[in-house]
Amino acid sequence: MHNEIFLRYNKNDKSALIPLLQEVQDVYGYLPEDAINEVAEFVGSSVARIYGVATFYNMFRMTPLGANVIKVCRGTACHVKNSANLLFALEDSLKIKAGQTTRDKKFTLELVNCIGACSIAPVITVNEEYYGRIGVKDIPSIIKKYQGKPKVESKDEAANQKQEVVL
Ligand code: FES
Repeated sequence: MHNEIFLRYNKNDKSALIPLLQEVQDVYGYLPEDAINEVAEFVGSSVARIYGVATFYNMFRMTPLGANVIKVCRGTACHVKNSANLLFALEDSLKIKAGQTTRDKKFTLELVNCIGACSIAPVITVNEEYYGRIGVKDIPSIIKKYQGKPKVESKDEAANQKQEVVL
């Protein structure tokens, strides 16, 4: 699938590395090992260098996402409304740190900057659903809601899902 991506770039063009990695991640949700090998070959760099670049930028993910992706907004409006406490509660409940996926692959926890819902800060999203003006006490029920829920597979499917805003 990522072969089509390479058609848009010039071979051995090292400046294409970041956009190439972004496009590969858009397809797979992370950077699979075989794709990294192909990117290295295409841009004419070593695999070690590609790994170095990919792990330097926190926008790149080296492992697949969990079935549900929880994003905690750490933008200013959410920060002043104690979004850090939501993050700590999620980390405690899920037994992972931000940027990690649970062992059972049900949840990935990520940090994001402002997601444009400052009026309902503090905000977290789970897949495509927004939860605003929430507190630590709301975290267990939110996690429970997604325990058995299948993953939203694509952007198109996600776009078709109804967004829920909890006020
Ligand atoms: S700062 Fe969190 S939504 Fe804007």
